[in-house]
Amino acid sequence: MNLLVVVGARPNFVKVAPLVAELKKKGISYDMVHTGQHYDNSLSKIFFDQLEIPTPDLYLGVGSGTHGVQTGKAMMKIEELLMKNNYDLVCVVGDVNSTLAAALAAVKLHIPVAHIESGYRSFDMGMPEEINRVIVDRISQLLFAPTETAVLNLINEGISQERIFFVGNIMAETLLKNLHKVKKPKSIDAKKKEYVLLTVHRAENTDNKKKILSIFNGIDKCPYNVIFPAHPRTIEKLKKYDLMDKIQKKENIEIVSPFSYLEFHYMLSNSRAVLTDSGGVQEEALLHKVPCLTLRKNTERMITLQYGANTLVGTDTKSIAVNLQKILQDKDASWPIPPLWDSNVSKRIVDVIQNHPELLIMPSNDFIK
Ligand code: UD1
Repeated sequence: MNLLVVVGARPNFVKVAPLVAELKKKGISYDMVHTGQHYDNSLSKIFFDQLEIPTPDLYLGVGSGTHGVQTGKAMMKIEELLMKNNYDLVCVVGDVNSTLAAALAAVKLHIPVAHIESGYRSFDMGMPEEINRVIVDRISQLLFAPTETAVLNLINEGISQERIFFVGNIMAETLLKNLHKVKKPKSIDAKKKEYVLLTVHRAENTDNKKKILSIFNGIDKCPYNVIFPAHPRTIEKLKKYDLMDKIQKKENIEIVSPFSYLEFHYMLSNSRAVLTDSGGVQEEALLHKVPCLTLRKNTERMITLQYGANTLVGTDTKSIAVNLQKILQDKDASWPIPPLWDSNVSKRIVDVIQNHPELLIMPSNDFIK
């Protein structure tokens, strides 16, 4: 068996770390390709180093661009690679543009696709990641779901149950295996539980001056220091809107460069609360038992709401301020860890791949019932 594992952006790197380690352990041959969607050291290389992910066999250098350009370029280059090699399965993770590009290129060449982190739905097709998730699940042969709700979402879309595997959350495995290595960023002087963490990078928030301003106004009265590791996109937009100086002048906000994985988890686990518009951070906050406010009107990570670990606050100044005050006063953040969010997720995935050769053959009929 020969596999292709595809990565492109920061959240992908975190998800493939245990997968490629398990493939190596089981002696399964694979190549890993990095599309180059994220290319900055702080968003890419440092994750490979810290999570001990082997250097990708190929780097496609796709870079930034509009959705069409980014997805199209990645698809062309992945197709070329697939035509030159004989892969039995293409493994994609998450919901970024590189995930979609690889799945589309593979399925059109009749190569089966395995989707890890399958079945998450925000039911908001205005979100580029939701479009990616829906399409990738529709054309994948093997669907690895992180939660029971994700399984139900897939069944509701007509996907046959023989192809859906509830394996748990691979990001949780990465976190559990690296918890002992987290480290305090050198540049930060913050006392445990005496600061709030903020991450904002989604286009729907950063590409709208009113929204981004509304978010920062919402944290204006936060009694704790707000530490904000900023994505390059967010910095670019704050400068464009002439907001950089204004925000830097606020006494309770500290803008810093993006943290590495191990630094980020030191900062998240010791924070009093986190405000974020990221998907993965909502789940990582749940795992660290840190209350989370999500700066979006919906989430695909339903489990974080079901467990009471997360609150959707949108981008309205008042909603952010009121909910922030509330969670900062709450004494006990306690909820259980969801089923199968453990250290064996990659093992379950690789076992399925090895034990279901019938799913590595492309069906001639439709993929759904
Ligand atoms: C992508 C994912 C998003 C994920 C996020 C994590 C899609 C549709 N979105 O969003 O789901 O949460 O990654 O970070 O795939 N840039 C750099 N250096 C880089 C990469 C990007 O400066 O290494 C800047 C560029 O100006 C670029 C912008 O950030 O145009 C956005 O990058 P892009 O990959 O398009 O999307 P993300 O916002 O990072």
